[in-house]
Amino acid sequence: MGDRWYSEAVVYCLDIDTYVDFDGDGVGDIRGLIGRLDYLARLGVTCLWLHPVHPSPKQDDGYDPTDFYTVDPRFGTLGDFADLLHQARNRGIRVIIDLVVNHTSDQHPWFQSARSAPDSLHRDWYVWSEHEPDNRRQGMVFPGEQHETWTYDRTARAWYYHRFYPFQPDLNVANPAVRAEIKKIMSFWLQLGVSGFRMDAVPFIIEQTEPGNSNSPRHIEFLTELRQHVQWRRGDAVLLAEANVEPDQLPVFFGDSGGSANRLHMLFDFMLNGRLMLALARQDPEPVIEALRDSPTLPEGGQWATFLRNHDEIDLSRLTAEQRTEVYAQFGPDESMRIYDRGIRRRLASMLGNDRRRIELAYSLQFSLRGTPVLRYGEEIGMGEDLSLPGRQAIRTPMQWSYQPNAGFSTAEPEKLVRPVIDKGEFGYERVNVTAQRRDPKSLLAWFERMIRTLREAPECGSGSTTHVDVPTPPGVLAHRADGSTGTMVFLHNLGTDDVEVDLSMLEPEADLPIDVLSDRNYEPVEKLDRLRLAGYGYRWIRLCRGRDF
Ligand code: NOJ
Repeated sequence: MGDRWYSEAVVYCLDIDTYVDFDGDGVGDIRGLIGRLDYLARLGVTCLWLHPVHPSPKQDDGYDPTDFYTVDPRFGTLGDFADLLHQARNRGIRVIIDLVVNHTSDQHPWFQSARSAPDSLHRDWYVWSEHEPDNRRQGMVFPGEQHETWTYDRTARAWYYHRFYPFQPDLNVANPAVRAEIKKIMSFWLQLGVSGFRMDAVPFIIEQTEPGNSNSPRHIEFLTELRQHVQWRRGDAVLLAEANVEPDQLPVFFGDSGGSANRLHMLFDFMLNGRLMLALARQDPEPVIEALRDSPTLPEGGQWATFLRNHDEIDLSRLTAEQRTEVYAQFGPDESMRIYDRGIRRRLASMLGNDRRRIELAYSLQFSLRGTPVLRYGEEIGMGEDLSLPGRQAIRTPMQWSYQPNAGFSTAEPEKLVRPVIDKGEFGYERVNVTAQRRDPKSLLAWFERMIRTLREAPECGSGSTTHVDVPTPPGVLAHRADGSTGTMVFLHNLGTDDVEVDLSMLEPEADLPIDVLSDRNYEPVEKLDRLRLAGYGYRWIRLCRGRDF
């Protein structure tokens, strides 16, 4: 593996509270997770991204912290967490955690202190207005569930700003004391042994909110400061950021104009995510080709993180209204499947009609495209959602481990579970679980294991360059290639239903004979690349050559 481990990583994200419950209280915990590290090692993932681990009233699933310097007691102790880091490292797995510093919970002692008096120590740690802002809905993130962003606090006798829910007051990063505290929090966790952070809501962290100004100034240089700080504390630590901004705004999040990525190492590729959904809905690769063509060139060391599903809604806000309607028609036809006027609250398997061929196609596409793939827990066995749960909880149900009661997630009484397990229908745990799939070499889980291992043998996918192979292809087919010092791979994906033949003979392999390394079925071995068969929803990963140094 090269020095930039993150560009060859396979990231797996999970919520501790819905993963495995070791002590039987109905809430997943760190000891439970430690017991499943071997499962994760076998799956082949190399980095865990843990959703918020801090204590919190859980009004936004932990994205409302009350103490940044410990773990939620329901998950275990800080000692358990240190053990997790140790046990994960023994298996070659790194751990990164969510860093939520745009805001805190309103229960956080800092906010309690801030509201208590105008001259309190923490008053300037938050964003206040003495007068009622003209526009109290400035910059809302959760339309339909959120009513305002400026809320009056009687105790404080002032209005405070919250980008998200009212119980999540924004921290004021213009205040040097807040900046220093954020650095201290990062140092603390790095010292404990995490390999970096998934930074929540980055564009909002750096925004200096001014009442009535929808174009408030921002402190972009704070990201440079954080990067320097993190790198001094731990040279190989990474910052993976959520920054769903306009494409022309993205480069400054990676780095300043100097040409190297001196701010954030990795950004989630929201633009690609939306285009992938559109391509799958239309059965036409054009939106992906456009995304590859239009995405900004990254500075040296900058990297995309790709995903199909994460813990939030599928955010289609960067598509046009017509495109969004097309995706809804295919993947979210019922109103109950949609959320916030922009997204879908479903798992991928159910969106794709639980069609195994389409699920493989979609994940093969994601993992072969440029960037570092991020996989959400439960996707590897094809879990579904529970639309009877409110909001995004639909896709945050407990991991389905076995045929045992509560899907083997917990031995607690069902009514004590942090969230109900899915126990009915085609996605119920008796049909979809790890135990069943672990012993079936044809299962989706076995496929994910094989696919991830194949990817890890092709580091050029993450660290090399990815380009569309612009040759005439049958409708529905995407051809792309990855080139790096470790070699060259070419990929074919058929988003349509018809069997086709593809001619890639203009791709002269430099030396080796091309070989199939992964495909949806056994095709006759590649020889001349001129008549490559590809079934409907089929895919082929073909190695063209190995780098001479490997
Ligand atoms: C983004 C997180 O992904 C989401 O789950 C959360 O609600 C908001 N940030 C607020 O922290």
